[in-house]
Amino acid sequence: IKEQKALFIIFGGTGDLAQRKLYPSIFELYKKGYLKRNFAIIGTARRPWTNDYYREIVKDSIDGMYDSEQTAIAFSNHFYYQSHNVTDTSHYVTLRQLAEKLDGKYEIGGNRLFYLAMSPRFFGTICEHLKSQELKTTTGYNRVIVEKPFGRDFASATILNNEISQSFPEDDVFRIDHYLGKEMVQNIAAIRFGNSIFNAMWNNRYISNIQVTLSEALGVEERAGYYETAGALRDMIQNHMLQIVALLTMSAPVSFTDADIRNAKINALKCLKVYTKDEVKENFVRGQYDSGRNLPAYRQEDQTAPDSMTETFVAGKLLINTMDMAGVPIYVRTGKRLATKATRIDVVFKQVPNNVFADNDLRHDVLTITVDPEPSLRLQLNSKTIGQGYDFDTHRLNLDYKLSEEQKKSVPEAYEKLILDALKGKASNFTHWKELQYSWKFVDAIRQAWDDNVDQVVFPNYPCGEMGPDTSEKLLAKDGNHWEFTI
Ligand code: BG6
Repeated sequence: IKEQKALFIIFGGTGDLAQRKLYPSIFELYKKGYLKRNFAIIGTARRPWTNDYYREIVKDSIDGMYDSEQTAIAFSNHFYYQSHNVTDTSHYVTLRQLAEKLDGKYEIGGNRLFYLAMSPRFFGTICEHLKSQELKTTTGYNRVIVEKPFGRDFASATILNNEISQSFPEDDVFRIDHYLGKEMVQNIAAIRFGNSIFNAMWNNRYISNIQVTLSEALGVEERAGYYETAGALRDMIQNHMLQIVALLTMSAPVSFTDADIRNAKINALKCLKVYTKDEVKENFVRGQYDSGRNLPAYRQEDQTAPDSMTETFVAGKLLINTMDMAGVPIYVRTGKRLATKATRIDVVFKQVPNNVFADNDLRHDVLTITVDPEPSLRLQLNSKTIGQGYDFDTHRLNLDYKLSEEQKKSVPEAYEKLILDALKGKASNFTHWKELQYSWKFVDAIRQAWDDNVDQVVFPNYPCGEMGPDTSEKLLAKDGNHWEFTI
């Protein structure tokens, strides 16, 4: 384990993300020895907190994660609070002085990780000031981690990117997508490119269709204000879903390096077919949850409009027009208030061309990669039914792999992995600007068609606790397919 030297400057240091994800992840890195002595964290936000108060908050956020009070105190002593108005230039002067002082005190050597965990409308201003007020050092690295959402369409994402790139070159911009830090999402590459059986069969000759489900049981909780302006398409499809689709459909990277992996993903997304309005109507469906199981409808949640047309569910069929994947339907769906929390991928293989077992129906082979809640793998095969005397029947056999309790404990939280990647300068699990460009162009076409109401949908159209509207089932049925994952 190599100790990483870094000064973190977190914009949005009092926020929910910082407390729920960032501080616990940084603490894990501390416990494991990746962060030891030569690091400090400056939290900034508008509120006038003291260092002592901030450290109490940090300690609260790692409650239950430490053995001794001493460890918690030693850790939280690396945290400093600086009240900061992101639009006030003089505040950056104060921030620079504090940063320089801490850099010296902790012998950090100029490495800086700027973490933008606040409203994206300030990202441009912050980056501009970090450069003009010389918060970027000349002695170490200067990386910026950018939280989602990265724009709300292609145009706004481009503006945002131009603003950031005035101050940080692409190689120093780490656009976070926490799904890329999940073990089983990272495992897709190992399964596909580490095994002849899958490597050989991962194409339109052998794959019937691929299905990705990102279902959530929760509703919009306290985030309805943001969600009203985003919807499931922007919130989940544009980022997490398309990243997973890229990993599932990209060609083999030349080598397993940042540049090659990202190039392979960029090419896959470049081949994603952008739909016309009519094609959107044909290939995408949307939903919004109604009340059910004693839970309120989306339109009854706090901060939603009583006639809101925000979608809380999306299902669609994507096509990746590469030599290997053209013609393979990629079915995706995501939604809130569905039957269960599950992040899962089903790769459905074609049946053998000729069934020699006359009376026995053969089934499709299916590879299932479950990302959440329990990472696991399943391969469904046809097999002889054992123990039937002279009869010969086939049935479906499941080969299952589940993590042991020991392994489960060793799985790091996605944020922890990604922060460590950023400290090490490893960029493959972050989204490149070119990936985002293609993603937004694809998403914009759908958004536009829906805003024009091509599908004439009526909301709400599914009750809480089910797997979305029935149009989602029909989408696959049209092709003679069905969702493998049912509840
Ligand atoms: C976030 C979305 O990016 O991902 C949320 O904004 C969603 O709406 C969350 O709930 C899901 O993440 P996870 O890791 O719980 O599947």
